[in-house]
Amino acid sequence: MIFVLTGAGISRESGLETFRDKDGLWSKVRIEDVATPAAFKKNPKLVHEFYNKRRRELTDGHIKPNKAHKALARLEAALDLTQPEDSVRQGPGLFLVTQNVDNLHELGGSKRVCHTHGSLTSAKCEACGASFEWLRDLGLDDVCPRCQAPGRLRPDVVWFHEVPYHLGLIEEELYSCDLFVSIGTSGVVYPAASYINVAKRRGVPTVEINLEPTVSSSYFDKGFYGPATEAVPAWVESILPLIGT
Ligand code: APR
Repeated sequence: MIFVLTGAGISRESGLETFRDKDGLWSKVRIEDVATPAAFKKNPKLVHEFYNKRRRELTDGHIKPNKAHKALARLEAALDLTQPEDSVRQGPGLFLVTQNVDNLHELGGSKRVCHTHGSLTSAKCEACGASFEWLRDLGLDDVCPRCQAPGRLRPDVVWFHEVPYHLGLIEEELYSCDLFVSIGTSGVVYPAASYINVAKRRGVPTVEINLEPTVSSSYFDKGFYGPATEAVPAWVESILPLIGT
């Protein structure tokens, strides 16, 4: 099973900003002002506006999945074909975990996407804990569709100082994968940044695909550097023949 971790770099050529590149999101707005529970408590209106702007980008139809997203969807489909009916590993041939809160992997055709930092297209109720698809602006006037609590909805994204989603599942897949691939992430936010260490300790082959080398590059067995829309399809094409498709 191939474990693929993606970050903001895979969506950059679709027109979404990354976080830490020189013109990235965190060069324009402070994390402390928009991406922590304390920020939301202090100024929920500002935080809602920050995520509403990013959600509108996704829903206004201009942002499309790119060749990198589509290549991973092709890989998922090809690996699923190779899963024999009675395979011991009932799990998928590809486990895709993304730090991104955009929906471009899904729009690119991926069927199973593990959003460990949540999703811009989902909202969560702080009163009852329910989360649900949310595609329009979110604000203090909105009422929870499940418990009707007014003004208790928040973006269903994981902020700094919060625990990322699906850590148990991610750990299970990390400890059973046969290949670890990191795509378009600077590898500085934990726990995702530690996954390469686990893969390395387990002795599985590791591949980094990124615009340029990162702080973790020396840990990887192989690196493919260049724009994701070129490097990811090239890598997928290079391994398809190996998985007997
Ligand atoms: N193709 C491939 N890689 C690219 C491209 C591109 N066109 N453009 C940029 N990159 C690379 C950059 O070189 C960088 O290594 O993508 C990476 C983006 O790094 P970050 O901006 O730090 O984004 P990411 O690693 O996803 O951040 C992780 O931090 O702020 C939190 O929750 C947020 O999920 C995010 C997490």
